[in-house]
Amino acid sequence: MTSSLPRRASLVLTGVLFSAACRSSTISPAPDATSPARVAANFPSSWRFRPGAAATAAPHAMVVSNDSIASRVGRDIIARGGNAVDAAVATGFALAVTYPFAGNIGGGGFMVIRMADGRTEAIDYREIAPLAATRNMYLDENGNLTDKSITGHLAVGVPGSVAGMEEALRKYGTLPLKTVIAPAIELADHGFVLDSGFSRQVEASQRNISRYEGARLFFPGGHVVRPGTLFKQPELAYTLRQIADRGSAGFYSGPVADSLVAEMKRGGGIITNADLLRYKPEWRTPVKGTYRGYSILSMPPASSGGITMMETLNILETYDKPAPFGSTQWAHRLAEAYQRAFLDRNSKLGDPAFIDVPQAELTSKEYARKLRAKIDDQHHTPTSMLVASREPMHTTHYSVVDDKGNAVSTTTTLNSGFGSAVWVRGGGYFLNDEMDDFAAKPGSPNMFGLVQGEQNAIQPGKRMLSAMTPTIVLNPKGQVLLVVGGAGGPTIITGTSQVVLDVIDYRMSLADAMRAPRLHHQSLPDSLSFERGGLDPAVADSLRAMGHSLKQVGSLVNINAIMRTDAGWDGVFEPRSRGGAVGY
Ligand code: DON
Repeated sequence: MTSSLPRRASLVLTGVLFSAACRSSTISPAPDATSPARVAANFPSSWRFRPGAAATAAPHAMVVSNDSIASRVGRDIIARGGNAVDAAVATGFALAVTYPFAGNIGGGGFMVIRMADGRTEAIDYREIAPLAATRNMYLDENGNLTDKSITGHLAVGVPGSVAGMEEALRKYGTLPLKTVIAPAIELADHGFVLDSGFSRQVEASQRNISRYEGARLFFPGGHVVRPGTLFKQPELAYTLRQIADRGSAGFYSGPVADSLVAEMKRGGGIITNADLLRYKPEWRTPVKGTYRGYSILSMPPASSGGITMMETLNILETYDKPAPFGSTQWAHRLAEAYQRAFLDRNSKLGDPAFIDVPQAELTSKEYARKLRAKIDDQHHTPTSMLVASREPMHTTHYSVVDDKGNAVSTTTTLNSGFGSAVWVRGGGYFLNDEMDDFAAKPGSPNMFGLVQGEQNAIQPGKRMLSAMTPTIVLNPKGQVLLVVGGAGGPTIITGTSQVVLDVIDYRMSLADAMRAPRLHHQSLPDSLSFERGGLDPAVADSLRAMGHSLKQVGSLVNINAIMRTDAGWDGVFEPRSRGGAVGY
């Protein structure tokens, strides 16, 4: 199955699609004030958002995701007595129905859990390379990269979402799987009314989707499904019912598994029944660190998110005072810190079952001081000078807090929008193209331009390195302050950490922190990306004079976050995209 897409095809990532959030009106005052006063944000005059927007506020519980129906499903589970993990799993299955762009049962993800009693754990349900995968499977006869890691059957990693969500629920949930999956089955069976955001996302991926079986459902009669349509997914409802009845065995064995394997055979894919039967999620200890008195809990490998963010925050903490928001020093410090942290990410991180990950060193304050000592405050250091001693998109995040003090931060993905575009006939869902997150050819860029090394080369049964950064921040009193994470490949790490910095360093409200302009640097390419209008032109000039190569982009990252306030919770879905923040 070959495709004619250029390998670096531009991804359908964050859209500019908006849907209304539900705004709660009754807010009871909290018994005691816990958060420091927020300070009015100051954005460049050229920036598209004005500071001072309102969040969705609610006193008890909040769910924020990229789809308002899925957020409501999670909120209702909590309102009926479930906890944040019950709600996260319910939201995850609902997103697989209402947000097939990235919500999934054919992909994988990561979840960071903080229970009210202080227990903190993370679950890794990342896809793995099939047993028949080989190191050079995406190279042509001349050793050049093909696009087969991005689109089509060979791009698919063994899905982990169903096993991961089931296991999270088993250990920390309070409701049966049947109960939390029921709203998703209902939505797939009886349908839901499509909004224009849904149609536009499908339309933007027409070329890929139309090659496979999903065309029948998403382009009936050759036309994109229209806003206002009652959209039913009977095959997906069948699959979800199998899962409801038999747990993850209903996905990894029996007729649903057989339909996935049959789909693989139809298109030259290599996932077998044996691959599905051996898939297991892994419980992990979150990356734990501190930043200016706040505690950070985030995702360890197989995601690079937690380590890379912690390394960056440690470097920034070595400066006594944060640079003024939007200033040249602000942008320069971020760029130099991210650049160094990404160099480590790209050369030292991978699946801990296959390589030794120097996590303690990379997340230590001492290591950050060493890196900081080599940062020139006046000039950008080209990546080529730092690299000498070293080895050579779609996702969706959702945040949940319940009325009992539990918090869940989950990021899940198919990688590109609609994944590999392969839609399982009879199964009713899209499969991921996560194999592209491996270094298909170490030293050559992947779809996100990430230049990664040997530690992330393809091996059978290995998890591909991720950038997903589901994160929970605790305030100095040890209470959950922020639940945050995002979509957008490597920009997840930079975007998530900037929301954290905007809240801690600049005391922005969550609504402002989510609207603040963002920057991105990933070491290679050696450029500092900024959002159109997000850098003051004089600051941009100064940065160029310091040696930065600036790259203007439309939008960076798709984040969904919740923050504690004195009155309860603020929820904000990504203002650059679509979503819903729903609380009570
Ligand atoms: O795991 C990762 O890092 C990527 N597969 C994430 C892809 C992504 O965020 C694309 N979405 N915008």
